[in-house]
Amino acid sequence: MIRSAASQDLPALVAIYNDAVLHSTAIWNDTTVDLANRALWLADRRTKNYPILVAAEDDAVLGYASFGDFRPFDGFRICCEHSVYVAEGARGRGLGRRLVEALFEPARALGKKVMIGGITGGNEPSIALHERLGFVRTGFMPGIGIKFGRPLDLVLMQKEL
Ligand SMILES: CC(C)(COP(=O)(O)OP(=O)(O)OC[C@H]1O[C@@H](n2cnc3c(N)ncnc32)[C@H](O)[C@@H]1OP(=O)(O)O)[C@@H](O)C(=O)NCCC(=O)NCCS
Repeated sequence: MIRSAASQDLPALVAIYNDAVLHSTAIWNDTTVDLANRALWLADRRTKNYPILVAAEDDAVLGYASFGDFRPFDGFRICCEHSVYVAEGARGRGLGRRLVEALFEPARALGKKVMIGGITGGNEPSIALHERLGFVRTGFMPGIGIKFGRPLDLVLMQKEL
């Protein structure tokens, strides 16, 4: 079931986010977050009517997706940048695809024309997911980040909504 995130989902959102911070280059942060941090994030998204969607099975949250501003300037108001994370044990079941698909309608309703994914170079599952959903690769920025002592490339993929 794909539904809007609620306060009781925050511990699961913290766990999924922190797993990506600690064990992957999907999130270019070195430090983990706590409940208060995610609560502020949820509140901030709500003030802008930007969705945070979760994939839930029984009581378990298996993944989430959301979008926010691409860049904080007026001219970028027709686009948004999304993120999607699925817990390791729940990957390959179509949840990531369904989560991102479920962002399209709320984005259109907010007047967004383009959705943008910023994907770490080499993240083939994410690149494949986005190609599957009709995103096209429109940018490549080599060596603009660093994590675990290694340089990171950024692949930009976008979809017209
Ligand atoms: C990327 C991620 C969200 C994909 O979620 P998922 O639920 O495993 O993906 P799905 O099962 O919905 O797969 C959707 C499509 O993506 C492709 N795909 C997903 N994982 C793949 C893999 N490991 N190898 C090749 N293709 C893959 C498939 O083509 C699939 O197409 P199908 O629906 O025709 O089978 C998930 O691997 C994840 O959370 N990774 C860690 C965090 C991350 O990288 N997030 C993205 C940051 S940009």
